[in-house]
Amino acid sequence: MSTAIGPYIIDNPVILAPMAGVTDRPFRQLCRKLGAGLVVSEMVTSDTRLWNSRKSRLRLDHGGETAPISVQIAGGDPEMMAEAARENVRRGAQIIDINMGCPAKKVCKKAAGSALLRDEKLVADILEAVVQSVSVPVTLKIRTGWCPDSRNGVTVAKMAEDSGIAALAVHGRTRACGYHGRAEFDTIAEIVSRVKIPVFANGDITSAERTQEVLDYTGASAVMIGRAAQGRPWIFREIAHYLATGERLPGPTLDEVRNILLAHLGELHRFYGEVMGVRIARKHVGWYLKTLADSESFRKTFFQIESAEVQHASVHEWFERRITRGAQAA
Ligand SMILES: Cc1cc2nc3c(=O)[nH]c(=O)nc-3n(C[C@H](O)[C@H](O)[C@H](O)COP(=O)(O)O)c2cc1C
Repeated sequence: MSTAIGPYIIDNPVILAPMAGVTDRPFRQLCRKLGAGLVVSEMVTSDTRLWNSRKSRLRLDHGGETAPISVQIAGGDPEMMAEAARENVRRGAQIIDINMGCPAKKVCKKAAGSALLRDEKLVADILEAVVQSVSVPVTLKIRTGWCPDSRNGVTVAKMAEDSGIAALAVHGRTRACGYHGRAEFDTIAEIVSRVKIPVFANGDITSAERTQEVLDYTGASAVMIGRAAQGRPWIFREIAHYLATGERLPGPTLDEVRNILLAHLGELHRFYGEVMGVRIARKHVGWYLKTLADSESFRKTFFQIESAEVQHASVHEWFERRITRGAQAA
């Protein structure tokens, strides 16, 4: 099963969802290596005047990434969004993704992200301005609507198709739902039946079996996975294997988890530098440890460490001790 975004063929229909503060370049590269068909950057603001901050500069860095490089932009002004799209393409973006799916307050205060879904005219203006501004494919990420009483996902999806959007990701919750309740896939199935562009189903997908169920139920071209990939980047190859063969791939051995984690740690330290890298590594290591039994006290110890070298050595040593005892990851 493969799907296309403009000229790009996505072989494994399992995509890493954009997550601010998580899907940085090291994590995207790791997920790609472990089977993600496509990865999407953390959102960057459409206000190019803010791009000089260290945070934005790191978000705009795509050096060494595997094609296609998909960059998400967030904002509420059509002209600024168009300019941000053009500038990102100049810096190497091969797909521009528009964020209308994120409820983050900082974005929504400026009427951006999922807050835009309330204003369909503005949605149309933004889609048109961005699609017209670049020659690369433009994708869109939405929720199913503004709130449960105003589930306008189908209308927005049709507007997206008419504007020339190349693919649409839909998170099965409304903006008002935040992350509460379970994601619903009825609206996504309806969207799939009403548009011809590829639709990616998103929300609470945590396993290969669930991926197959969601693909069967919605008819979506692919799924998008966010939180379930945190500390479990191998989920992409597990799902790819299951979709291709119907069989479950055994989880990684502890030895492999250690190797993946140590390589990830090294990339974080290199990418962010020691001070920031050590801090950012804590949350990633915390997620990996959640998949492993009896890791709580080590997690606390690890969070106190202030140096890259000691972080590396302590992870190495913790795994060594366990590997000799023969445990396995979840
Ligand atoms: C920490 C975090 C950051 C997120 N940042 C973004 C973002 O920058 N842009 C976006 O469109 N969605 C963002 N999302 C939403 C995810 O892309 C995804 O739609 C949501 O988490 C549901 O998928 P999941 O259940 O697989 O996690 C974020 C989610 C999380 C948990």
